[in-house]
Amino acid sequence: MKAETVSTFETIKASEDRFQLATYKKMPVAAERGQGVWLYASDGERYLDLYGGHAVAGTGHSHPHVVEAIRAQAEQLIFYSNLVYSDVRARVSEHLVSLAPQPLSKAFFCNSGTEANENAMRMARMATGREKIITFTGGFHGRTADAISATALGKYREMGKPNVPGHLFAEFGDIESVEKIADETVAAIMLEPIQSMAGVRMADAEFYRALRKLCDERSIVLIYDEVQTGVGRTGEWFFAGNEAGAARVPDIITLAKALGSGVPVGACLVTEKIASHIKENDLGTTFGGGMLAMAAVKATLEAIEEDRMLENVKAVESHLRERLSEIPQVVRVQGLGFLLGLEFEEKAAPVHKALLERRIITGTSSDANVLRLLPPLCLKREEVDLFIEALKEVMKLAKQQL
Ligand SMILES: Cc1ncc(COP(=O)(O)O)c(C=O)c1O
Repeated sequence: MKAETVSTFETIKASEDRFQLATYKKMPVAAERGQGVWLYASDGERYLDLYGGHAVAGTGHSHPHVVEAIRAQAEQLIFYSNLVYSDVRARVSEHLVSLAPQPLSKAFFCNSGTEANENAMRMARMATGREKIITFTGGFHGRTADAISATALGKYREMGKPNVPGHLFAEFGDIESVEKIADETVAAIMLEPIQSMAGVRMADAEFYRALRKLCDERSIVLIYDEVQTGVGRTGEWFFAGNEAGAARVPDIITLAKALGSGVPVGACLVTEKIASHIKENDLGTTFGGGMLAMAAVKATLEAIEEDRMLENVKAVESHLRERLSEIPQVVRVQGLGFLLGLEFEEKAAPVHKALLERRIITGTSSDANVLRLLPPLCLKREEVDLFIEALKEVMKLAKQQL
C-alpha cells in the first residue's frame, strides 16, 4: 500500500474545492474525530459543537454504544434488503413503535428526511384517493421533487422547477388560512411542528389542536415532519403528543437526522388506518431497513434511554435559558428543548463567525437575526457555561466596535 502523506487543513481544502461541487458554504474546519459534544479538527483544535453535526449527532459524536453496535453488526452482516426478515430490524421496529404516541403503530424505513417525506405524501394520497398537499410558509421538507415542491422556504421550490403539481400553501400558525384551502381534494397537511430553518418558529398550542380537528372533520391526513424535532430533540421522543402541541398526534411522523446517530436512515411512523391502505410493492427502497442502519437506530434509542438524555435536555434547556437571560442582546429565545433559536437585535452571522473563532459551532437560519442551537442531547451545564462566557465576550467586543 502507498504511504500517505500527512494532510494539512490547506491541502484538504484545496483537494475538496478542486474535486467536489461547491454546494455548501463550508466552515474553515476539517473534521477528524468526535467525542460527545466535541469535534476535533485536523489541526488538533477542538470545537464545542452546538450545531450537533447538522442536527444529526443526537447521541453526541461517536457514542461508544453506537460505535460498538455498528462495529458488531458490520462484522455479522452489513446489508440485506427487505426481501428477508432480520432480527435487528424486527427489534428496532418494535422499539421505535413502542416509543411513538398512540395511535402510531407501524414503521417504514428509508434513507433520508426528504425520502421519508416523499413516502409520507405518497401514503396520504394512497389512503385518501386525493392528490393535493398543503404545507406552510417557512417550512422546509427536503430537496427531491415532491418534497422541494412542498417547501415554501426561500428559493428551494424555485430551484426544484418544474414542481410537482397539487401543492398548496398556508400561513404557519394561522388556522383560517388552512381552512380556506383545505377542501375535499386535499390528501394531506404537512408541517414541521417547529420550523427550524425558518428561524425556529413554533405556533401556539391552539394551532396544533385546530389542525388535528380540521383534518379529522375533512378526512385529511396530518403529517408531522419531525426530521429535526424527533428522536428526543425537544426533551420528549417526538413533538407529536407533546404538551407544546396540545398533546395532538398526527397520522404520520417522518424522521431522519438523529435517528441513526449519523448512519443515513429515515423513517415514517404511521397509524394502523394509514397502514391498511398500503399493500405489497406500494413503497420501497433498496437500502431502507438495512442491517447496519438498523443496528445504528437500535443503539441510538438505547443510548438515549440508558444515558437519560431526555431528562438531560429538559434540565440543561432551563439552565441555558436562564443563562441567556444575562445577555441583553438576545431579545428572544424560541423553540423547545435542544432546538433553540436565539434572536438578536442585530444580524446573527457575525456572532456565528465570532463564536467559530472561539471554537464554538452554532447554526444560522433563514431569519438573519436568529442563531440556531441544535446540540447533542448529552450537552452539560458546564458546556453551556463555556458558550455563555464566549457569547458575552463576543457581545462586549461588538459593543466596543460600535
Ligand atoms: C425539517 C426537515 N425536513 C426534511 C429535511 C430533509 O432531510 P434530508 O437532508 O435527510 O433529506 C430536513 C433537512 O434539513 C429538515 O430539516
